[in-house]
Amino acid sequence: MNYPLTGYHHITACAGGAQEDVNFFTQVVGLRMAKQTVLMDGSIPIYHLYYSNANLEPGSVMTTFPYSRKPGRPGSGQVAATAFTVAKGSLPFWKDHFKRHNVDQDPGAERFGQSFIRFRHPAGLAFEVIEDSNDQRQGWTTPEIAQSEAAHGFHGAVLSVREVAETERFFIDALGFRKTGVDGQYHRFETGVGGANKTVTLLHEPDRPAGSWTFGAGTVHHIALWGADQNALAEQKAIYEELGYTDASEIKDRFYFYSMYCRCPGGILVESCCNAPGSFEKDETKEELGTKLHVPPWFENRRDEIVASLEPIRVPESAIAASKKKVEATR
Ligand SMILES: [Fe+2]
Repeated sequence: MNYPLTGYHHITACAGGAQEDVNFFTQVVGLRMAKQTVLMDGSIPIYHLYYSNANLEPGSVMTTFPYSRKPGRPGSGQVAATAFTVAKGSLPFWKDHFKRHNVDQDPGAERFGQSFIRFRHPAGLAFEVIEDSNDQRQGWTTPEIAQSEAAHGFHGAVLSVREVAETERFFIDALGFRKTGVDGQYHRFETGVGGANKTVTLLHEPDRPAGSWTFGAGTVHHIALWGADQNALAEQKAIYEELGYTDASEIKDRFYFYSMYCRCPGGILVESCCNAPGSFEKDETKEELGTKLHVPPWFENRRDEIVASLEPIRVPESAIAASKKKVEATR
């Protein structure tokens, strides 16, 4: 059977303050600012900020809802950590880099023979840089992070589950992953060629109380897997329904993407996603990406009210293609 989703598209977390989130992803992780827009559900204006690698590839897109109005409750049934691949041998750089930025980090560790460092976002979210010499995707660079150290994109998410069996069935039967290893409490699943951007890791935490499902600062809201087009999403929805996962949502218009959601048995929300024609470049050029706030057409009549209620943010020049070029030209 051919499965329609082939890897990650994005991972979406609830941050706290907007500016601290921008600083963390553009200066600590070293991603480019890909888009400033707003949450498209509900009536309260909330930013939706997108960050990515150099080429805005599916599988490199980290997105956040700065949601300081309400804290989330971390726990099982949630993404425990999101891992970005970096070059082999670059972890000493990252250790010093986190230190320079006063970022909370754990000592280096290993999972399935790969070294990683776990570090924390100001809202408490856990991220990892994990060494992977096979990932050749182009990272974004900053004055502090050269191409030799830059994050290429996602390796994958680590999902905390109280029981492995039913979430394992979901990833294998509904999404076409295969189980490729167990390392202590970690169970690894890969799709396609496996490795970076094709790996989901379950962390078995049988005694961990369930985390919150609603939007709340310090928790990941969902992971999104990528399909080629809307047909892929319709096929995925049909697979869910045939297997009996009847809570798959309708396919939603997210302006830059189309999205369909289904909660897996372990509690983590899994989105199926495909780009809309034009995607990020639908309303600004590649050079201008991330420079200003865009609201979808159906919110345009509320634009002033939305802008007035959001925390003003300043995006570092190094995270914007147009200004980065200018800065580099003057060096
Ligand atoms: Fe999403």
